[in-house]
Amino acid sequence: MSNQDFTFPEGFLWGTATAAHQVEGQNDNNTWSAWEKLPGKIHKGERAGLACDWWGGRWQEDMDRAAAGHQNTHRFSVEWSRVEVGPDQWDDEALAFYLERALGMVQRGLKPMITLHHFTDPLWLAEKGGWEWDEAPRHFAAFTRRVVEALKDTTNLWVTINEPNGYPFFQYLFGNFPPGRTDFGACFKAMVNLMRAHAAAYHVLHEVQPQAQAGFAYSHRPFRAARWWHPLDWAIFLFADRHFNEAFIDPVVSGRMRFLMRRASIPESVGTQDFIGLNYYSVDDMFFSLNPKRMWIDRRFPKGAELSETGFIANLPKGLYRSMDWADRYKLPVYITENGVEDCRDTLRPKYIIEHLYQVWRAIQAGIPVKGYYYWSLTDNFEWERGWKQGFGLYGLDPLTQ
Ligand code: FCB
Repeated sequence: MSNQDFTFPEGFLWGTATAAHQVEGQNDNNTWSAWEKLPGKIHKGERAGLACDWWGGRWQEDMDRAAAGHQNTHRFSVEWSRVEVGPDQWDDEALAFYLERALGMVQRGLKPMITLHHFTDPLWLAEKGGWEWDEAPRHFAAFTRRVVEALKDTTNLWVTINEPNGYPFFQYLFGNFPPGRTDFGACFKAMVNLMRAHAAAYHVLHEVQPQAQAGFAYSHRPFRAARWWHPLDWAIFLFADRHFNEAFIDPVVSGRMRFLMRRASIPESVGTQDFIGLNYYSVDDMFFSLNPKRMWIDRRFPKGAELSETGFIANLPKGLYRSMDWADRYKLPVYITENGVEDCRDTLRPKYIIEHLYQVWRAIQAGIPVKGYYYWSLTDNFEWERGWKQGFGLYGLDPLTQ
């Protein structure tokens, strides 16, 4: 395969993705900064700390690296808690900083793709109830307006919310993200409010910038039944597929959200995707588990799959094809908003990237309008509850010495 040429369409976007809390450092007004201080929440008690020191200005040298590697786009996120420091209290200096960063990208030939929410909430929002609070969407829309008004001359590519289908599960089902609870009712409430927030942000974006292209970055996991002959594995597979891959995105077509026995009507969400952003990492084999603590649902990587350094990801590039094929039912442009592997020694990464890009190329040949690919990530960064143990970066980073 490596001896052949694979041509991608003119204007294809090639880049990497980052998120504010994972790279900026010195964040002390969001939910993760508080969560990291609690014992037992983060691998080895690590903290984001200075992270990649982007807040201290080192985004510049990292953007030099991105440009030197012939990237022509970069996906980054704006930290809500920096821009809206308290309810309706705005910090214009923070916005000026983000403008400087976006302009710095444009000057280097990198088109910004700007994410408005990536896994962190302002502490003041959490105090009001976080995504369970029905006013959260209104506040998110106000924040969106500020950001778009400030940055609209630098790009028209926007991600409203990163993995809105995963985030409420991590917060309210699995408990690995703040507030760390297990509560189905709260999870559904958060899902509905996140969809309302997405829809409100989408409408604001188009009002301020008519040529905006906006959508969420969806975490799509192509599941399978672990044992093809086992009816309970099939039941678990279908259940996981419905609730993880479909429940959140349904309202974009139907205006209705359905999760377990719960229902909500969200008419304003119909048609609020200009593209489908896909975060794809792996395929899971689902099986019926006798462990009631796992609610009879368990997953493992397909047998024999090549695993990453910390066993977090299996190299299954055809799964990316399945995700793009799934996304194609919406008949919208597709961006691979994240795809990558943790691999400090670069033993698997080159192969992982080439094999996944081959699937992107195949999808384009088959007529799926894939417009860009964002590798996660440019540099090693703070990987949430896994702390610093996973090196996803094209560039390594020692957080202690920078
Ligand atoms: C994704 C997240 C991103 C990063 C990668 C490894 O789910 O969006 O922030 O942690 O996983």
